[in-house]
Amino acid sequence: MPSQSSKTLDKTEVIRKETVNTQTPEETAALAGRFAQQLKPGDVVAFFGDLGTGKTFFIQGICRALGCREYVTSPTFTILQEYQTPSGIPIYHFDFYRLSHPAELVNLGLEDFLYGEGISVIEWADKIQDELPIPRWEIHLSFVEGQATARQIRILRVEWKDDQNA
Ligand SMILES: Nc1ncnc2c1ncn2[C@@H]1O[C@H](COP(=O)(O)OP(=O)(O)O)[C@@H](O)[C@H]1O
Ligand SMILES: [Mg+2]
Repeated sequence: MPSQSSKTLDKTEVIRKETVNTQTPEETAALAGRFAQQLKPGDVVAFFGDLGTGKTFFIQGICRALGCREYVTSPTFTILQEYQTPSGIPIYHFDFYRLSHPAELVNLGLEDFLYGEGISVIEWADKIQDELPIPRWEIHLSFVEGQATARQIRILRVEWKDDQNA
């Protein structure tokens, strides 16, 4: 669940869209492909989950489904990597694993991306929890004990309680 300040939390609602246990990477890729079909310009997708749960893998599935030609890897040394879809909508792929100082966010011009016309996908979104826009998608991935290639994947939607602020 989001751990934003209680004041913000009061005005938002978290809608559980679906929880899926995938048994293989291929099933996760298929889920990502289905999820991608509903994405629109300006959408933000925040990923949560430990190292190796499949955040980058899921994002690869999104990018493939949206027709990106470039190979998607974790932007480990750059925080942000940008991909182009054939329809002209850019995908901004953030990875905040190595974010050490919030000042880096100011240099990055984070808000221009998050509130722009591209689709933002964010690994280690908990590192910028307070900057995450509402509405947004959240995807929470976790390991399944004793099953090396299984993952639990929860898809949520965080929205304002009424549309007035949206
Ligand atoms: N069910 C599954 N869904 C997604 N990835 C899986 C699954 N089972 C095994 N894997 C493997 O787990 C790894 C996930 O790596 P990655 O996407 O880089 O993780 P993260 O970005 O969360 O650190 C990949 O090597 C992938 O093949
Ligand atoms: Mg990753």
